[in-house]
Amino acid sequence: MKRIPIIIDCDPGVDDSFAIALAYSRPELEIVAITAVEGNVPASLTRRNALGLCETLGINCRVGFGMDRPLKRPYQRDASDTHGKSGVGSVVFDEITLAPDPLPAWEIIYQEAVKHEGELVLFAVGPLTNIAMCLMLHPDLPKHLKRLVIMGGGTFGNVRSTGLKAEFNAWIDPTAAKIVIEGTEVYMVGLNATHAAAVSVSDFDEMIALCGDKYSSGLVRELCRFSRRNHVENGSDNNCIHDALAVASLIDPLCVGFEHHYVYVEDREDAANVGETVIDLSDTSGKAKNCHVAMTVDKKRFADLLKDMCRHYASL
Ligand code: RIB
Ligand code: CA
Repeated sequence: MKRIPIIIDCDPGVDDSFAIALAYSRPELEIVAITAVEGNVPASLTRRNALGLCETLGINCRVGFGMDRPLKRPYQRDASDTHGKSGVGSVVFDEITLAPDPLPAWEIIYQEAVKHEGELVLFAVGPLTNIAMCLMLHPDLPKHLKRLVIMGGGTFGNVRSTGLKAEFNAWIDPTAAKIVIEGTEVYMVGLNATHAAAVSVSDFDEMIALCGDKYSSGLVRELCRFSRRNHVENGSDNNCIHDALAVASLIDPLCVGFEHHYVYVEDREDAANVGETVIDLSDTSGKAKNCHVAMTVDKKRFADLLKDMCRHYASL
């Protein structure tokens, strides 16, 4: 079987970790690189977590360090405990032997896109700072990609200071989000989709039961346990495994339905809705449609993919 080469640019992050684990559990996907960006936790932790996840899951790929701050605004960490102190829930990677790739994330992304000419699917499930850097340095990146899938934006947001208009990834770096979303063709899996695909407590219970306690399976079980507990006890949105849905959209196209619309990103720093992805759902703007927006999901198919992932690691 010809495997699809993928890169996951991420800010691990509990749901980023699920996305990586899900991708690595699929024989049809080949993770050629994991690249880290500032986001859920500072870059010092997202970098550590990217290395730790690859080491624990046994992923043999390039690990690239990217930007540690947004293009323009200062980095503002999300104060919520959605991802725990380490950034990966209750998991702490204290013994890491893996070393990062000597090249920065954006150079790895471009190098691999050219190497896998037209075959590489690039997932960006954190702030879009690295992707914007890559586009600014290598404007021909899009022609080498098979697809660019982002987790971000949506028809509503999760950042309180914007009146829940802006979604976290786009809000952390609205300048980068504007460059990427308005400058290239993206498949945008936003909060409207990830919330519609929320995982139920009984699904989490089934996933936990399916997991074993071996090294990689133990990690997946811990992610499930933390997410379930944080959602039930603290009312967090850990039941929305945002980043994993972006990956699922490639694994099973019936999981996520996309509509083509014009989307722009509010990047004015003084705007109350800074970071909002403004979607022309009625297609009345007269502007060219530039974005495939996730509008429908099959939450059972998504949950089934997650359970298959748990079975995979338990079988190792
Ligand atoms: O708004 C949710 C997104 O922001 C997810 O990618 C989460 O990991 C954070 O990066
Ligand atoms: Ca993320």
